[in-house]
Amino acid sequence: MADQPLEKRVDDLFLRMTLEEKIGQLCQMDGRIGYEEWITKKHVGSFLHVYGDLINKIQLCASKTRLGIPVLFGIDAVHGNAFVPGSTVFPSQLGMSSSWNLSLIEDMARITAREVSACGIHWTFSPVLCVSRDLRWGRVDETFGEDILLIGEMGKAMVRGYQGQKLGEPESILACAKHFAGYSETQGGRDASEADLSKRKLLSGFLPAFEAAAKSGCATFMIAYQSIDGIPCSANAWLLEEMLKGEWEFGGIAITDWNNIGRMVNEQFVCATMDEAVMKALNAGTEMAMSTPEFPDALLRCVKSGKVKTETIDRIVKKILRLKFELGLFEGIKVFSDKNVIEKTLGRDEHRQKALECALQSIVLLKNEDSILPLSDSVKRVCVIGPNADDPVAQLGDWSFHSESLDTKTDWHPGGNIVTVLGGIRNRCGTRIAVEYCKGCSIIDDGLDEIDDAAELVRGSDIAIVVLGDTLPLIGETHDRVSLDLSGKQMDLVQSVHKTGVPIITVLINSKPLSIPWLKQYSNAIIEAWNPGMEGGTAVAQVLFGDVNPSGKLTISFPLHSGQIPVYYNQIPGWHAHRYADLPDGKPLFPFGFGLSYTTYKYENISVSKNIIKPGEGLTVSIDVENTGNVDGIEIVQLYIRDLVSSVTVPIMQLKDWKRVELGQNEKKRVDFSLKPNAFSLINTELKAVIEPGFFEIMAGGSSSKEDLLSVVIEIAEV
Ligand code: GLC
Repeated sequence: MADQPLEKRVDDLFLRMTLEEKIGQLCQMDGRIGYEEWITKKHVGSFLHVYGDLINKIQLCASKTRLGIPVLFGIDAVHGNAFVPGSTVFPSQLGMSSSWNLSLIEDMARITAREVSACGIHWTFSPVLCVSRDLRWGRVDETFGEDILLIGEMGKAMVRGYQGQKLGEPESILACAKHFAGYSETQGGRDASEADLSKRKLLSGFLPAFEAAAKSGCATFMIAYQSIDGIPCSANAWLLEEMLKGEWEFGGIAITDWNNIGRMVNEQFVCATMDEAVMKALNAGTEMAMSTPEFPDALLRCVKSGKVKTETIDRIVKKILRLKFELGLFEGIKVFSDKNVIEKTLGRDEHRQKALECALQSIVLLKNEDSILPLSDSVKRVCVIGPNADDPVAQLGDWSFHSESLDTKTDWHPGGNIVTVLGGIRNRCGTRIAVEYCKGCSIIDDGLDEIDDAAELVRGSDIAIVVLGDTLPLIGETHDRVSLDLSGKQMDLVQSVHKTGVPIITVLINSKPLSIPWLKQYSNAIIEAWNPGMEGGTAVAQVLFGDVNPSGKLTISFPLHSGQIPVYYNQIPGWHAHRYADLPDGKPLFPFGFGLSYTTYKYENISVSKNIIKPGEGLTVSIDVENTGNVDGIEIVQLYIRDLVSSVTVPIMQLKDWKRVELGQNEKKRVDFSLKPNAFSLINTELKAVIEPGFFEIMAGGSSSKEDLLSVVIEIAEV
């Protein structure tokens, strides 16, 4: 049959299925809590959170059913196949986004796909395309930051990496654009609470990344937990039918997040019964249900009573079967995992090397007073201090070993193949430089207090490297925060070290921006390393000692104070006084697009191809950038636009393009940007994307700060 056309094979199998078998294909259950009954009695066609021997056991069980339809396995491999021991663990999405490097992000996804598919798993619930604007939210680390253009382009790169050229390739897996949509813009940063977003706001600032993913062929979408303006996303026909499947012509599968359908009854209280919830969800465009145990029986009742049409089920089942055929599952491809393949694929050297490259490019140099970095050869004794200096679990962050998302509190500890900051510094220093270490305190105060010991150890050192940040109980779903200050006794620790007078290099191992004004003032240097993955310590050490010149730039703004949130760069104007009465400086602590280097860059001669264009015309913007220092570097040149007068309020600036430019010492290049007409468009009150005549400010430079930008004004003339 493999030589038959795909559609014929789908129809042939479909016509042999009972209604119950069809409904089973719409169900995805948690494979860790049993599978036999789900398969033999409910014909469940997909499981998640399963790896190891269980994969083959479940597939074997499915192969013995009447039609033997293979099971589709999904997992959250969101920064590498990071739940499976031995896998390559990359930096978090937020860390990776600081590289502004699309091909590197694609490489990370490709390696992840290779390791996931080797395990007999077919689907990763990645990329996250949420826009991080409320930093109290627990899942900021899973996002590509606060800018919708970056998120869209990086999301497409991940989809390319995961899905490759064809889903049938041995290494290709299904990507999943999530969480659709507006999930990160919930009240108070509270995970899964209601999002107060209008359709115009969604179309302007939250949907473009999902549209890009849909149009780039992303195979699946995950529907967000929360409600928008009173309607749960799983029951939102405007989102699922009108936009996703209608305007964007998405032909893949829309699956709910974890038990969304049950939450419509038990948390959002918009349905009195499960049958009502199933009916609302299926009739609004939901196609698969993740981890809703009551779903198969409720859907059977809904179909039999006519609340859900058989045609709806038939259309969805055919889409799911088509995906399984495209993946090659019916040819036995990627069905059973082979321990030998796993052994030689997971965590292999070339993958580790790529993880190191990712970690290096994700590091952002936030401060470097008197060029204290890179550390000079005169340094003979460094003292490494802090709770995150030698903690593999904190370093990997969420959706990895020990994170609650998968109850992976297994005995297996990733320590063996994770290079911590302390480990990286020790490896780099060898016997040439003495390295002392003291943890000092914990991220969350557990009574550990070695603050005096740490200060004592620092005395007599040339440099104190203080590694601070956050860790799992402060990160992730259900771990939103009210304060972004350093937790526990971290401030006491670093202030005690500061009193010794020894210069301080702060290294941040953290999931999200923190409000750290004291560190900005009193550290001699600050390295932002995020959750840098398994080679994070090696990367930090290579940057500290100047083996690599840091090139990362922030894709998310740092707040001066938690109460300042939201602090993202592309604000809508209109705030009286532009500051809080009790926070005179209304600016972020570190702005979007900011990042230092061991060299310096100079921008000159911004110019445009035309000063007046017509609506529908593009524009070329050029600018000179020169490396004025004595170290080779990579500068991320950014291009922003502001519509100076518009029919609706628009952001004070908006990123429209960027380029990573390699510049040798004293080298100058002229950088050209080609702006397409839609760079000048806005969503008007009729929800249409329009280009309005008028004046536009074009800005280019090294960050979103005015002082880092050169600008020119152009006009879009009335036709
Ligand atoms: C979680 C998350 C989602 C994840 C899914 C499966 O609750 O919201 O991002 O993919 O459930 O683990």
